[in-house]
This record gives sequence, C-alpha cells and structure tokens, in this order.
Amino acid sequence: MKIIEVENLSYSYDGVNPAVSGLSFSVEEGQYCALIGHNGSGKSTLAKLLTGLISGYQGSIRLFGTELNPKTLYSLRSRMGIVFQNPDNQFVGSTVRDDIAFGLENRCVRREEMDGIIRKCAQEAGMENFLDAAPENLSGGQKQRVAIAGVLAMRPDILIYDEATSMLDPKGKKEILELTRKMREGNPKLTIISITHDIEEAATVDEVLVLNGGRLILSGAPKEVFSHREELGKIHLDAPFYVNLIAALKDKGVAVPDTVGSLAELEEFLCR
Ligand SMILES: Nc1ncnc2c1ncn2[C@@H]1O[C@H](COP(=O)(O)OP(=O)(O)OP(=O)(O)O)[C@@H](O)[C@H]1O
Ligand SMILES: [Mg+2]
Repeated sequence: MKIIEVENLSYSYDGVNPAVSGLSFSVEEGQYCALIGHNGSGKSTLAKLLTGLISGYQGSIRLFGTELNPKTLYSLRSRMGIVFQNPDNQFVGSTVRDDIAFGLENRCVRREEMDGIIRKCAQEAGMENFLDAAPENLSGGQKQRVAIAGVLAMRPDILIYDEATSMLDPKGKKEILELTRKMREGNPKLTIISITHDIEEAATVDEVLVLNGGRLILSGAPKEVFSHREELGKIHLDAPFYVNLIAALKDKGVAVPDTVGSLAELEEFLCR
C-alpha cells in the first residue's frame, strides 16, 4: 500500500523563489526512506508540507490513501510524528516529563498508563535520568533525545526525522538508529522518512530520495541512486564508503561484480 503519494508538489515561501518544485513520488508502507540533498535543497520544506505545517502549496499530497486538506489534516497528523531539525523549537512542557506527557494528553491516554509510557520512551532514548529537567537547560543532543522520546511515545505510523540525530555523538547516533530499527521490527508497518546528511545511513535504507534546488533528481534503492556518482558529485553529495571503495578497487583492476550492493556484500566478495 502506498502510504505517501505526492503529485506535482510545488511551494514557494515568498511567491517568487520555489522551495520545492514539481515533486512527484510515493512511499510504500513500512519503507525506511532517506531524503538527502545539500543545504537549502528543500528537505525541511517537504517535511513541513507532508505534516501539514505549511499550506498554500500547488499539487497534491495523499497520506494513508486520503488527500491532505484542512478537513483531514487533524486525523492524518495524529498518525504522524516529526522530530524537527532545530530541537529548540519543539518543546511545550516545562519539564521533560511534561513535554512527553503533552502529546499523550492530546491523545487522551489515561493517566495510569501515561507514567509507564513516559518512563519507557525516555529510557529508550537515554533520557530517563532527566525527566524532571527543564528542556531548555539540556544540551543540543539531549534535546534531540527528548524530542525523539516524545515522538516514540506517540507510536506514529509515519515517522519523520529532520536531521534528528545531527547533534548526537557517534555512539548516540548509532543507538538512536538501532532504536529506530527496533521500532520497525515491533511495527513492520512503520514508515520512516529520515532527512539526513549522513550518507552511510542513507546507504542502509530501502529507498533514497535526492533533492536539488527543490527538485527530485534521483530516487530508488541506495544501490541504484549511489551508482550515479558523477551526478551526485556535481551537486556536492558524496557516495557511501562502499561505493567509493568499489570504484577504487575497479580502478586497480579488481572485478567487483555489479551485484555487490552494500559494505557487507563487498566484505563477503573480498573474503571469498
Ligand atoms: N521560513 C522560511 N521563509 C522563507 N524562505 C525559507 C524558509 N524556510 C526555508 N526557506 C527557503 O526555502 C529553501 C529550502 O529550504 P529548506 O529549509 O527546505 O532546505 P533544507 O534542504 O532543509 O536545508 P538544510 O539542509 O540546510 O536543512 C531555501 O532556499 C530556504 O532559504
Ligand atoms: Mg532542513
């Protein structure tokens, strides 16, 4: 089932310069997608459009098979979770506990259940010792963890991370990516859109979407998208390590078969 269907989507903040332009793509239920592109390419704008935070666009957005419009906005949004790029813009509670509780209250979760959910999500995001802290006093990475805990508590069907781990240290980032994978194992229907500058993360997903100047210039499985090394290079995007390594090996005359499409497969080929 197609969970996100976007057709000919265009939007301009100032009515002159397009932030996104003529976007058409769809995402299957349960897919893990990476949305990549350099600064200003329209990634956050697309995330805001998908979550109904910006209106006045041209084209159409269908979520869960339903057209996004002012009438359907509330019910569609209740099934989506987004962690924004700037963690300072997303706190409503005066403590971490209140902040996570806020979303649950909106969903009418009963008080007796709430404490357990808050504790579990805070623990999963590594913030269980900060439940009484004020979000504004946390570090950037800690704020991102709280935002992630808040979104986990909502159990969304579509999860959008807008560079949600950009301030985490490498270990923290790995932990959150593993946690996200675990969430998917628990709910195979969970669809994830991860906006990221981390090409190595993008190499491990189901589908990669590449934006440039507000346009979708490449999409497909990582293996297919990252085979366009030159095109990506022109827009200052690197290919994952394994793709560059294969190219270097081929330059040296090593006949790496085209079927090799990940670091694990390359390791297997080299160790044969
Ligand atoms: N609130 C705004 N008002 C006016 N223009 C905006 C606004 N937000 C973004 N833009 C413009 O829209 C374009 C797309 O910006 P967007 O934030 O979607 O890019 P991005 O791909 O998320 O970039 P980054 O990697 O830096 O986060 C840019 O040219 C940007 O200057
Ligand atoms: Mg952005």
